[in-house]
Amino acid sequence: MLAGAISPRATWWQEFSDYRSGPASAFSLAKPCLGLAFSDMAAIKEPESLDATFYKPADAFFPAYNHIGLTFDDVTLATLYSEVLPHETLLDTSLGGGLELNIPIISSDMDTVTESRMAIAMALSGGLGLIHYNMPERDQLSEVSRVKNHVHGLIQEPIKAGPDQLIGDVLNLIEKKHFAFSTFPVVDGQGKLVGLLPGHVVKLRYAKRKVMEALTPRNQVETLNKKDLGRDPIAKADKFFTDHPGIHKLLVVDDQDRLHGLFTMSDVERITLERNAQFKPARDANFRLVCGAAVSATRNAFGELDRERILAHVGSLVERGLDVVAVSTAHGHSKGVGDAVRMLRGAFPKLPIIAGNVTSAAGVDYLADCGANAVKVGQGPGSICTTRIVAGVGIPQLTALYVASRAANKKNVVVLADGGITKSGDIVKSLTLAGAVICGGIFAGCPEAPGEVMEFSGKRYKQYRGMGSFAAMKAGSAARYGHTNDSNRKVAPEGVEALKEVTGSVDRVLAQLIGGIQSGMGYLGAANLAQLRQKARYIRVSPAGQREAAPHDVVELKAGT
Ligand code: XMP
Repeated sequence: MLAGAISPRATWWQEFSDYRSGPASAFSLAKPCLGLAFSDMAAIKEPESLDATFYKPADAFFPAYNHIGLTFDDVTLATLYSEVLPHETLLDTSLGGGLELNIPIISSDMDTVTESRMAIAMALSGGLGLIHYNMPERDQLSEVSRVKNHVHGLIQEPIKAGPDQLIGDVLNLIEKKHFAFSTFPVVDGQGKLVGLLPGHVVKLRYAKRKVMEALTPRNQVETLNKKDLGRDPIAKADKFFTDHPGIHKLLVVDDQDRLHGLFTMSDVERITLERNAQFKPARDANFRLVCGAAVSATRNAFGELDRERILAHVGSLVERGLDVVAVSTAHGHSKGVGDAVRMLRGAFPKLPIIAGNVTSAAGVDYLADCGANAVKVGQGPGSICTTRIVAGVGIPQLTALYVASRAANKKNVVVLADGGITKSGDIVKSLTLAGAVICGGIFAGCPEAPGEVMEFSGKRYKQYRGMGSFAAMKAGSAARYGHTNDSNRKVAPEGVEALKEVTGSVDRVLAQLIGGIQSGMGYLGAANLAQLRQKARYIRVSPAGQREAAPHDVVELKAGT
């Protein structure tokens, strides 16, 4: 490396690690002060009190700024003496009511963010997905079932071909859907396995041929019966691939030979490697992935809370194994939301309940008293939100989190920081006040988010829209904003319809976020999230300080986030 060049993060922490574990050169002056005379001890106390003059704990810092709303970039955290290496930090968190996550990150209940695919990916990485409610209730039940019945590594609804299709049709499908694979199970009208269409025949030269003419017939295709999957299906599939060199796909069928899923060797190999990962999947007591779902405080034709409908639906969600329900609205400190939470708490005493959104201590008190375990905090910080512009209402997120967190501590409920997070540093700042964060935009470009990929000027995008946008409210979310779905009534949208550039998969995005959180904790000497909350020291950042914090005076070749 060139003299004076900035060492990459890993190297810097490596140096720190070397210092901690043995002889150090450059760092030796900073070694702990064992064996110092009292006069020397007095000398090192002084810098500490100097630090305390500038870098304040939350209860001194935020009240000093009670005349201004602060958000993430207005504030930075001070570093502290550390014996903690980032990769040693623990990120487990509790959402109350016995629900534990292995990472403090939740995907938002939005119709362009969380359905079963996203919820599965989040839980596999140790977090949680909240399935949105902009769909018929029976569809939301199926989405929850998909998460709860998910067998890791088994593609439960593989893309299939029909025996009478042309290979040209299959090629068109691959192009239209941007599939990165070209081998397809072939099933008949009853879902029974007919054979396997191997990738090497899915070629333009065979376009006019029928799938039936080119497939590998059923009697030559290796399968596994669903009932033989056992408790560890991945180990079973892994052994199969070892025992059958050259076979890269394993189909799962039932006793009637109907197709139930597909293992691919590459998935199985990746999962086997990931088993050593630091953050384990978030599972329930029966080893199933955890899953949350949102509901709104729906009203009946008389404008009253539709108690029967909400109770029946949440009851069905619970039967399917739901781990947490979120009563999700734009204004949680309201009678309808309070009544819904109180009713659900009465009907389901053990079900963890999230409610929101609020930005005041009184709002947290209210929802906690109604029976919520966790409260969503955030009004208007979201990347697609226009509540502050349209309604002139909402509080910059860090101030809101501070106020809410102090009320939550007294009521013993958990604060969830919802919206406005664009980088891992925002999460670190949030977690100094909250138990977990809820993110929408960060995940909306992932392949696991609902929606098709669109291409404009050579770039790939996915739709991302506010649940208060006109289109989302028309699709069902109007109740969240206190409106009806009646399209004849004029309502003011509180969110925009937007695009997000396509990103990598959820586990890749999470790897970046988690890396950032762990770095932040290392800088503060916080081994876990409780220590992060207790140790955090804040200082206000000037506009020049904000500019200084981002890359500047360089031509950036590769984005750093
Ligand atoms: P991010 O910043 O992660 O924010 O994209 C996601 C959060 O924004 C909230 N949300 C909205 N807020 N109008 C709003 O004012 C909307 O249309 C809207 N849709 C979502 C929600 O809390 C979400 O988790």
